[in-house]
Amino acid sequence: MIRVVVLVSGGGTNLQALLDSKAAGKFPQAEIVMVLSNRKKAYALERAKAAGIPAVYLPTVRYDSNEAYGMALRDLLLENKVDLIVLAGFLVVLDKCVIEAFPNRIINIHPSLIPSFCGDGFYGLKVHEEALRRGVKVTGATVHFVDSGTDTGPIILQKAVDILPDDTPESLQLRVMQQAEWKLLPEAVRLFSEGRLKVEGRICQIQGE
Ligand code: GRF
Repeated sequence: MIRVVVLVSGGGTNLQALLDSKAAGKFPQAEIVMVLSNRKKAYALERAKAAGIPAVYLPTVRYDSNEAYGMALRDLLLENKVDLIVLAGFLVVLDKCVIEAFPNRIINIHPSLIPSFCGDGFYGLKVHEEALRRGVKVTGATVHFVDSGTDTGPIILQKAVDILPDDTPESLQLRVMQQAEWKLLPEAVRLFSEGRLKVEGRICQIQGE
């Protein structure tokens, strides 16, 4: 069984998509063993508790540097024998000690078609505001492995979403979640748990397709 930890900071709709997919039997070879947040009030923690999954609050203020936080997080993940870490709206920049401890075992969901509208400063609504400002007609979401850069790791899955003429950043954010993020993330966990993601350099190939 693949042991999955989900890291969150906010509402946790992507976490909910994972919980629902697990309950529906979409990835029988993976189990979500813990949900961890840097924010005490993250509603995602309530979602975890409601599903009977250990919900851990690990505040950054307890540590005097991002590196110290990263070491504590890494040690907790290692102690729990984690196979896959899912970043589902986790707003702490992962220290390199975490990334180095779990090569090609950390995945992130980003609300655009990478390499558009990604990198430093592109998170949350800002991504959708920039897409609308640039006037692109298609955006979407990307699940990728996490490497030492920001949104630079091997791309696992992408899904396009049309931009409509009267979209606001909020309406676009919701549609990208509904049509892309909530589908891609459980699918990526399924593929990982089936051992079908093979990474060579920057390229991730899905085997058996
Ligand atoms: C999502 O838009 C995701 O793409 C981004 O953070 C947001 C998290 O939303 N990385 P939620 O907490 O899953 O509702």
